[in-house]
Amino acid sequence: MSDLANSTATISRESAITCRGVGKVWLPDTPRAYEALRGIDLDVKPGEFVVLLGPSGCGKSTLLFLIAGLESPTEGEIRSFEKPVTEPAPERALIFQQAALFPWLTVGQNVAFGLSLGGVPAAERKQAARDALQRVGLAEAATKRPTELSGGMRQRVAVARALAMRPKVLLMDEPFAALDVQTRAKMQDFLLDVWRDSTASVLFVTHHIDEAVALADRVVVFTARPGRIKTIVPITLPRPRDPFSPECAALRIALTDLLKAEVDAAFAEQEGL
Ligand SMILES: Nc1ncnc2c1ncn2[C@@H]1O[C@H](COP(=O)(O)OP(=O)(O)O)[C@@H](O)[C@H]1O
Ligand SMILES: [Mg+2]
Repeated sequence: MSDLANSTATISRESAITCRGVGKVWLPDTPRAYEALRGIDLDVKPGEFVVLLGPSGCGKSTLLFLIAGLESPTEGEIRSFEKPVTEPAPERALIFQQAALFPWLTVGQNVAFGLSLGGVPAAERKQAARDALQRVGLAEAATKRPTELSGGMRQRVAVARALAMRPKVLLMDEPFAALDVQTRAKMQDFLLDVWRDSTASVLFVTHHIDEAVALADRVVVFTARPGRIKTIVPITLPRPRDPFSPECAALRIALTDLLKAEVDAAFAEQEGL
Protein backbone atom coordinates (compact mmCIF):
# COMPACT_ATOMS: atom_id res chain seq x y z
CA MET A 1 0.00 0.00 0.00
CA SER A 2 1.33 3.48 -0.78
CA ASP A 3 2.04 5.97 1.99
CA LEU A 4 -0.86 8.12 0.89
CA ALA A 5 -3.33 5.25 1.01
CA ASN A 6 -1.94 4.36 4.40
CA SER A 7 -2.38 7.84 5.81
CA THR A 8 -5.90 8.18 4.37
CA ALA A 9 -6.87 4.92 6.00
CA THR A 10 -5.47 6.16 9.31
CA ILE A 11 -7.38 9.43 9.09
CA SER A 12 -10.67 7.80 8.21
CA ARG A 13 -10.38 5.43 11.15
CA GLU A 14 -9.79 8.29 13.57
CA SER A 15 -12.61 10.03 15.36
CA ALA A 16 -12.59 13.81 15.47
CA ILE A 17 -14.08 13.54 18.95
CA THR A 18 -14.50 10.49 21.17
CA CYS A 19 -16.37 10.56 24.48
CA ARG A 20 -16.27 7.45 26.64
CA GLY A 21 -18.35 7.22 29.79
CA VAL A 22 -18.22 10.99 30.23
CA GLY A 23 -19.88 12.38 33.32
CA LYS A 24 -19.79 15.78 34.96
CA VAL A 25 -20.73 16.74 38.47
CA TRP A 26 -20.53 20.47 39.07
CA LEU A 27 -19.26 21.50 42.51
CA PRO A 28 -18.43 17.90 43.49
CA ASP A 29 -18.01 17.08 47.18
CA THR A 30 -20.05 20.10 48.23
CA PRO A 31 -23.67 20.30 49.39
CA ARG A 32 -24.44 21.95 46.05
CA ALA A 33 -23.01 19.08 43.99
CA TYR A 34 -25.02 18.81 40.80
CA GLU A 35 -24.83 15.96 38.31
CA ALA A 36 -25.16 17.50 34.85
CA LEU A 37 -24.03 14.61 32.60
CA ARG A 38 -23.79 10.84 32.95
CA GLY A 39 -22.28 8.07 30.84
CA ILE A 40 -21.89 9.92 27.55
CA ASP A 41 -20.48 7.70 24.77
CA LEU A 42 -20.18 9.55 21.49
CA ASP A 43 -17.98 9.44 18.40
CA VAL A 44 -17.91 12.30 15.93
CA LYS A 45 -16.34 11.48 12.58
CA PRO A 46 -14.08 13.91 10.71
CA GLY A 47 -16.27 16.22 8.63
CA GLU A 48 -19.47 15.09 10.30
CA PHE A 49 -22.25 17.49 11.33
CA VAL A 50 -23.67 16.39 14.68
CA VAL A 51 -26.50 18.21 16.45
CA LEU A 52 -27.02 17.90 20.21
CA LEU A 53 -30.71 18.30 20.95
CA GLY A 54 -32.26 18.34 24.40
CA PRO A 55 -34.32 20.26 26.92
CA SER A 56 -32.92 23.29 28.63
CA GLY A 57 -30.62 22.36 31.53
CA CYS A 58 -29.82 18.83 30.31
CA GLY A 59 -26.10 19.50 30.05
CA LYS A 60 -25.60 20.35 26.36
CA SER A 61 -23.41 23.37 27.06
CA THR A 62 -21.59 21.41 29.74
CA LEU A 63 -20.65 18.75 27.20
CA LEU A 64 -19.36 21.37 24.73
CA PHE A 65 -17.29 22.97 27.52
CA LEU A 66 -15.77 19.58 28.30
CA ILE A 67 -15.00 18.87 24.64
CA ALA A 68 -13.55 22.38 24.25
CA GLY A 69 -11.23 21.57 27.16
CA LEU A 70 -12.50 24.46 29.29
CA GLU A 71 -13.66 22.06 32.01
CA SER A 72 -12.69 18.50 32.92
CA PRO A 73 -15.10 15.59 33.16
CA THR A 74 -15.51 14.04 36.60
CA GLU A 75 -15.94 10.60 34.94
CA GLY A 76 -14.73 9.08 31.72
CA GLU A 77 -12.52 10.45 29.01
CA ILE A 78 -12.59 12.70 25.97
CA ARG A 79 -10.23 12.42 23.01
CA SER A 80 -9.79 14.52 19.91
CA PHE A 81 -8.05 12.78 17.02
CA GLU A 82 -6.79 10.18 19.50
CA LYS A 83 -5.22 12.73 21.85
CA PRO A 84 -6.74 13.21 25.33
CA VAL A 85 -8.42 16.60 25.69
CA THR A 86 -6.88 18.36 28.68
CA GLU A 87 -7.03 22.04 27.74
CA PRO A 88 -8.46 24.35 25.06
CA ALA A 89 -6.81 24.18 21.62
CA PRO A 90 -7.22 26.24 18.44
CA GLU A 91 -8.24 23.10 16.57
CA ARG A 92 -11.41 23.01 18.70
CA ALA A 93 -13.16 26.37 18.28
CA LEU A 94 -16.14 27.28 20.47
CA ILE A 95 -18.83 29.70 19.28
CA PHE A 96 -21.46 30.98 21.72
CA GLN A 97 -24.97 32.33 21.41
CA GLN A 98 -23.76 35.89 21.84
CA ALA A 99 -20.79 36.63 19.63
CA ALA A 100 -18.19 37.70 22.18
CA LEU A 101 -16.49 40.29 19.98
CA PHE A 102 -14.26 43.04 21.35
CA PRO A 103 -16.15 46.29 20.73
CA TRP A 104 -12.98 48.39 20.61
CA LEU A 105 -11.43 46.33 17.81
CA THR A 106 -12.46 46.40 14.17
CA VAL A 107 -14.08 43.35 12.63
CA GLY A 108 -10.79 42.45 10.92
CA GLN A 109 -8.86 42.81 14.19
CA ASN A 110 -11.43 40.68 16.00
CA VAL A 111 -11.01 37.91 13.45
CA ALA A 112 -7.21 38.12 13.63
CA PHE A 113 -7.16 38.21 17.44
CA GLY A 114 -6.88 34.48 18.11
CA LEU A 115 -4.00 34.23 15.67
CA SER A 116 -2.08 36.94 17.49
CA LEU A 117 -2.30 34.82 20.67
CA GLY A 118 -0.79 31.98 18.65
CA GLY A 119 2.15 34.17 17.62
CA VAL A 120 1.32 34.30 13.90
CA PRO A 121 3.15 37.22 12.22
CA ALA A 122 1.08 40.37 11.51
CA ALA A 123 0.99 40.16 7.70
CA GLU A 124 -0.08 36.52 7.80
CA ARG A 125 -2.75 37.34 10.41
CA LYS A 126 -4.18 40.06 8.21
CA GLN A 127 -4.35 37.75 5.21
CA ALA A 128 -5.95 34.94 7.23
CA ALA A 129 -8.53 37.41 8.61
CA ARG A 130 -9.28 38.68 5.09
CA ASP A 131 -9.73 35.11 3.80
CA ALA A 132 -11.99 34.14 6.69
CA LEU A 133 -14.15 37.25 6.28
CA GLN A 134 -14.40 36.52 2.57
CA ARG A 135 -15.68 33.03 3.36
CA VAL A 136 -18.50 34.40 5.51
CA GLY A 137 -19.35 37.09 2.94
CA LEU A 138 -18.14 40.01 5.05
CA ALA A 139 -14.99 41.09 3.21
CA GLU A 140 -16.36 44.64 3.06
CA ALA A 141 -16.89 44.88 6.82
CA ALA A 142 -13.26 44.42 7.91
CA THR A 143 -12.81 48.04 9.06
CA LYS A 144 -16.19 48.35 10.78
CA ARG A 145 -16.76 48.03 14.53
CA PRO A 146 -18.98 45.20 15.86
CA THR A 147 -21.60 47.76 17.01
CA GLU A 148 -22.13 48.77 13.37
CA LEU A 149 -23.25 45.24 12.46
CA SER A 150 -26.57 43.39 12.78
CA GLY A 151 -26.85 40.35 15.07
CA GLY A 152 -26.57 37.96 12.12
CA MET A 153 -23.46 39.72 10.83
CA ARG A 154 -21.87 39.61 14.28
CA GLN A 155 -22.40 35.85 14.42
CA ARG A 156 -20.81 35.55 10.97
CA VAL A 157 -17.79 37.46 12.31
CA ALA A 158 -17.64 34.96 15.20
CA VAL A 159 -17.67 32.13 12.66
CA ALA A 160 -14.94 33.89 10.63
CA ARG A 161 -12.83 34.29 13.77
CA ALA A 162 -13.17 30.56 14.44
CA LEU A 163 -12.41 29.65 10.81
CA ALA A 164 -9.26 31.79 10.82
CA MET A 165 -7.84 29.35 13.36
CA ARG A 166 -8.40 26.49 10.90
CA PRO A 167 -10.24 24.35 13.45
CA LYS A 168 -10.79 20.65 12.94
CA VAL A 169 -13.85 20.81 15.15
CA LEU A 170 -16.34 23.66 15.42
CA LEU A 171 -18.27 23.62 18.69
CA MET A 172 -21.36 25.80 18.39
CA ASP A 173 -23.57 26.48 21.42
CA GLU A 174 -26.99 27.69 20.19
CA PRO A 175 -25.18 30.16 17.94
CA PHE A 176 -28.32 31.42 16.21
CA ALA A 177 -30.75 31.33 19.14
CA ALA A 178 -30.80 35.10 19.61
CA LEU A 179 -31.59 35.79 15.94
CA ASP A 180 -35.02 36.25 14.40
CA VAL A 181 -36.51 33.30 12.51
CA GLN A 182 -35.68 34.57 9.00
CA THR A 183 -32.09 35.48 9.88
CA ARG A 184 -31.68 32.12 11.58
CA ALA A 185 -32.73 30.24 8.44
CA LYS A 186 -30.25 32.31 6.40
CA MET A 187 -27.50 31.61 8.91
CA GLN A 188 -28.20 27.88 8.74
CA ASP A 189 -27.77 27.96 4.93
CA PHE A 190 -24.64 30.00 5.35
CA LEU A 191 -23.21 27.60 7.93
CA LEU A 192 -23.87 24.60 5.68
CA ASP A 193 -21.99 26.37 2.85
CA VAL A 194 -19.03 27.16 5.08
CA TRP A 195 -19.00 23.64 6.52
CA ARG A 196 -19.12 22.03 3.06
CA ASP A 197 -16.04 24.03 2.03
CA SER A 198 -14.13 23.07 5.15
CA THR A 199 -13.13 19.66 6.40
CA ALA A 200 -14.21 20.46 9.95
CA SER A 201 -16.59 18.45 12.07
CA VAL A 202 -19.38 20.47 13.65
CA LEU A 203 -20.98 19.82 17.03
CA PHE A 204 -23.99 22.10 17.15
CA VAL A 205 -26.19 22.54 20.23
CA THR A 206 -29.80 23.55 19.85
CA HIS A 207 -33.18 23.02 21.44
CA HIS A 208 -34.89 23.76 18.10
CA ILE A 209 -36.10 20.64 16.34
CA ASP A 210 -36.35 22.50 12.99
CA GLU A 211 -32.72 23.49 13.24
CA ALA A 212 -31.65 19.92 13.97
CA VAL A 213 -33.58 18.63 10.95
CA ALA A 214 -32.11 21.31 8.65
CA LEU A 215 -28.50 20.73 9.66
CA ALA A 216 -27.60 17.35 11.07
CA ASP A 217 -26.01 14.18 9.73
CA ARG A 218 -26.95 12.78 13.14
CA VAL A 219 -29.13 14.19 15.91
CA VAL A 220 -28.07 13.20 19.41
CA VAL A 221 -31.18 13.41 21.61
CA PHE A 222 -30.49 14.00 25.31
CA THR A 223 -32.55 13.03 28.31
CA ALA A 224 -33.47 15.48 31.05
CA ARG A 225 -30.88 15.97 33.78
CA PRO A 226 -28.55 14.26 34.35
CA GLY A 227 -28.08 14.43 30.60
CA ARG A 228 -27.64 11.03 29.00
CA ILE A 229 -27.90 10.09 25.35
CA LYS A 230 -31.45 8.92 24.81
CA THR A 231 -31.02 8.02 21.16
CA ILE A 232 -29.16 9.07 18.02
CA VAL A 233 -31.21 9.78 14.91
CA PRO A 234 -29.32 9.69 11.59
CA ILE A 235 -30.55 12.01 8.81
CA THR A 236 -29.44 11.03 5.34
CA LEU A 237 -31.55 13.50 3.34
CA PRO A 238 -29.49 15.58 0.90
CA ARG A 239 -29.03 19.28 1.66
CA PRO A 240 -30.43 21.87 1.25
CA ARG A 241 -33.45 20.22 2.84
CA ASP A 242 -36.97 21.37 2.12
CA PRO A 243 -38.54 21.89 5.57
CA PHE A 244 -41.97 21.30 4.06
CA SER A 245 -41.10 17.91 2.56
CA PRO A 246 -42.89 14.87 4.02
CA GLU A 247 -39.51 13.44 5.10
CA CYS A 248 -38.64 16.54 7.14
CA ALA A 249 -42.14 16.63 8.61
CA ALA A 250 -41.83 12.98 9.67
CA LEU A 251 -38.45 13.68 11.29
CA ARG A 252 -39.90 16.65 13.18
CA ILE A 253 -42.73 14.50 14.50
CA ALA A 254 -40.33 11.72 15.53
CA LEU A 255 -37.95 14.14 17.29
CA THR A 256 -40.81 16.00 18.99
CA ASP A 257 -42.02 12.67 20.34
CA LEU A 258 -38.55 11.74 21.60
CA LEU A 259 -38.12 15.11 23.30
CA LYS A 260 -41.55 15.45 24.84
CA ALA A 261 -41.01 13.19 27.85
CA GLU A 262 -37.65 14.85 28.53
CA VAL A 263 -39.01 18.38 28.34
CA ASP A 264 -41.82 17.38 30.74
CA ALA A 265 -39.26 15.88 33.13
CA ALA A 266 -37.06 19.00 32.94
CA PHE A 267 -40.07 21.23 33.68
CA ALA A 268 -41.21 19.10 36.58
CA GLU A 269 -37.75 19.32 38.12
CA GLN A 270 -37.49 23.08 37.66
CA GLU A 271 -40.90 23.57 39.27
CA GLY A 272 -39.77 21.42 42.19
CA LEU A 273 -36.72 23.61 42.84
N1 LIG B 1 -20.25 26.41 36.04
C1 LIG B 1 -21.28 25.75 36.60
N2 LIG B 1 -21.34 25.55 37.94
C2 LIG B 1 -22.36 24.90 38.51
N3 LIG B 1 -23.41 24.36 37.82
C3 LIG B 1 -23.43 24.54 36.49
C4 LIG B 1 -22.36 25.23 35.80
N4 LIG B 1 -22.66 25.25 34.47
C5 LIG B 1 -23.83 24.59 34.35
N5 LIG B 1 -24.29 24.16 35.55
C6 LIG B 1 -25.51 23.38 35.78
O1 LIG B 1 -25.50 22.21 34.99
C7 LIG B 1 -26.77 21.95 34.42
C8 LIG B 1 -26.65 21.81 32.92
O2 LIG B 1 -26.38 23.09 32.39
P1 LIG B 1 -26.09 23.35 30.86
O3 LIG B 1 -25.00 22.46 30.42
O4 LIG B 1 -25.88 24.82 30.73
O5 LIG B 1 -27.47 22.90 30.18
P2 LIG B 1 -28.03 23.20 28.72
O6 LIG B 1 -26.96 23.83 27.92
O7 LIG B 1 -28.48 21.88 28.21
O8 LIG B 1 -29.21 24.11 28.91
C9 LIG B 1 -27.66 23.12 34.80
O9 LIG B 1 -28.53 22.72 35.83
C10 LIG B 1 -26.71 24.18 35.30
O10 LIG B 1 -27.27 24.93 36.33
MG1 LIG C 1 -26.82 25.68 27.06
